[in-house]
Amino acid sequence: MQSFIQALATIELGSDAVRLFHGRGGYYAECEHLCLDWFAPVLLLTSFTPLEESDLAVCQQAITERWQVICPDNPLNLVYQYRSGGETHTQLLQGEVPEPHIVSENGAQFQVHLMRGQNHGLFLDMANGREWVRANARYKKVLNLFAYTCGFSVAALQGGADEVVNIDMSKGALSIGKQNHLLNGFSAGARFLPHDIFKSWGKLKKLGPYDIIVADPPSNQKGSFVATKDYVRLIRRLPELLAQNGELLLCLNAPELDTAFLRQQVADAAPTLEYITRLDNPPAFIDVSQDKSLKVLRYCRSASV
Ligand SMILES: C[S@@+](CC[C@H](N)C(=O)[O-])C[C@H]1O[C@@H](n2cnc3c(N)ncnc32)[C@H](O)[C@@H]1O
Repeated sequence: MQSFIQALATIELGSDAVRLFHGRGGYYAECEHLCLDWFAPVLLLTSFTPLEESDLAVCQQAITERWQVICPDNPLNLVYQYRSGGETHTQLLQGEVPEPHIVSENGAQFQVHLMRGQNHGLFLDMANGREWVRANARYKKVLNLFAYTCGFSVAALQGGADEVVNIDMSKGALSIGKQNHLLNGFSAGARFLPHDIFKSWGKLKKLGPYDIIVADPPSNQKGSFVATKDYVRLIRRLPELLAQNGELLLCLNAPELDTAFLRQQVADAAPTLEYITRLDNPPAFIDVSQDKSLKVLRYCRSASV
């Protein structure tokens, strides 16, 4: 716990949602199970194993002490979530959580839900992906596969995209996605398709081709997408959806599958795609292993094909 307490002493809070402590990255001794996120005005402490009561008390005390230094005029709002045996438990330790809870990132607003499940509505590790899309979307048609709450779509429209097609089998996530568009002043420009991607190639092809495609699937969602067998099925279909000179962001957040896995899948299933580079993860997500951390790979469809 000592390295968590030491790291806390240096954290600062801005207005944007960010990760403050990333024990998962393996840089902090005996803290691989701990993360701390800032979803203003709430701090979220996550433990990937249940904490002993005494350890939780130590964490809460350290967080409170730092809070008193950096935010002495505001009450501390602190949520604790832990994972145990495949289940997620969430409790409000201190203060309150606003409802609706709207956070910002890079000039965009997003609705989040800290008390509901383990996905909160905004994946903080994908901030650079959203930034890349924002910076490259002007006058583009964008396909957002596995759109969830449509963070990439909001970023694309902010960057001046002509049109975005969002597809995700979760109607609930897409409905938050629609609200995220409205929150950011986008009442047009995006479509929301509540379908299984593997059953929607015809529709997706009809709406294409796309200048940018983002594919950010789960690593292992039983019955819907299992990266080891389904990523190749996805990759195979992408060239026919991509415009000449179109660009692709392929994402993979599975510690057990490395960059080489994803690159090999592309080489085998879609050799017309050219690898460009891998996007860096936000500095807070520092990891002892580049291969275990989130992978966001840029590809393009070469002009000659
Ligand atoms: C990792 S999240 C995507 C995060 C999102 N790209 C973002 O930036 O916030 C994975 C999403 O894939 C969706 N999903 C999983 N399998 C799917 C399938 N076969 N067809 C459509 N959506 C699927 C889930 O509903 C979930 O919302």
